[in-house]
Amino acid sequence: MAPLSRRILTIETTCDETAAAVVAEDLHVLSSVVASQDQLHRRFAGVVPEIAARAHVERILPVIDEALVRAGVRLADLDAIAVATTPGLAGSLLVGLVAAKTLCLAADKPLVAINHLHAHIYACRMAAGRDVFPCVGLIVSGGHTSLYRCQAATEFEYLGGTIDDAAGEAFDKVASMLGLAYPGGPAISKAAEHGNERAYAFPRGLTHDRERLDFSFSGLKTAVRYTIAGPGRPDFRAAGLSHEQVADLAASFQAAVVDSLVEKSMLALARTGLARLCVGGGVAANRRLREQLAETAARVGAELIVALPELCTDNAVMGAIAFETLRAGKTERLDLDAQPGLVRHSPLAEP
Ligand code: KG4
Ligand code: ZN
Repeated sequence: MAPLSRRILTIETTCDETAAAVVAEDLHVLSSVVASQDQLHRRFAGVVPEIAARAHVERILPVIDEALVRAGVRLADLDAIAVATTPGLAGSLLVGLVAAKTLCLAADKPLVAINHLHAHIYACRMAAGRDVFPCVGLIVSGGHTSLYRCQAATEFEYLGGTIDDAAGEAFDKVASMLGLAYPGGPAISKAAEHGNERAYAFPRGLTHDRERLDFSFSGLKTAVRYTIAGPGRPDFRAAGLSHEQVADLAASFQAAVVDSLVEKSMLALARTGLARLCVGGGVAANRRLREQLAETAARVGAELIVALPELCTDNAVMGAIAFETLRAGKTERLDLDAQPGLVRHSPLAEP
């Protein structure tokens, strides 16, 4: 009988999704459970870190249990337990890490650390079903908008990123201004379907600066806000926009974000000399972005791989990257700490 592919439990609690999955080394997904906290953060139009951490505490054990049950696997059957330890919200990361360490101790299993950003790009590796490295990686989510030279699954070099808001953050806040639901990405995308993306000429932050692989979205956010109601009008949400205006504003805003992302991604390909672009993170689920990336990549002769929509937003399946770490023989001690902050290094951005 062929030897059974190794299986691991992966845990993801970097932000506001409590997720666990059981994945096999051949990247077969045995189970995937995601408990979303959208309902809890909706009235704040963004993630509130303390609320997220408390909700993780309540959900983590049922979510892990469910992942094991659905996979038909006992703790004893696992070859390792992996958890995302960086970057993310400190309180949220700690909940997943403590759960993972406790299970490792109780079941005598090795602990593997996952870098959440590496995992977002690994979702492209899973979508492709073959090796995708080296490539340029674009991670575009609620907390991150950055470009990397991805030499290998766990070997990233920072090329550039947002100097203010992440693209997903801008989607969420603009949706709130337009009276649309949270999370804002899917809501804006839907509203934009019936809108005219040329109705408003919104800024494409930093796209004029061909030296930098950076993004800026806060000026765009302000431009939308002033278009809805001029400066000095605090109650802009009551501006009484028509359906048509909301659709046009949503489409024009979305086009500005997409243009910036596409433009700098193509610049990153040109600057690195790489011919493959991998895109992950919640905003990568955006249809307009996927279409425009595909069109532009084809035009410049680059290969484009975007994570499957369900693996764009936070999930534990992409934690299958832990097998790469495991194969490299790297496991962690149980005194491992979470690292909320992002360590950046950008040789290409230096003069
Ligand atoms: O990757 P993710 O689940 O969490 C972080 O690591 O941040 O990304 C969540 C973000 C939210 O800001 C959400 O509005 C955005 O991804 N998002 C989208 C879409 N689906 C989710 N943005 C644009 N279009 C979408 N279809
Ligand atoms: Zn994420």
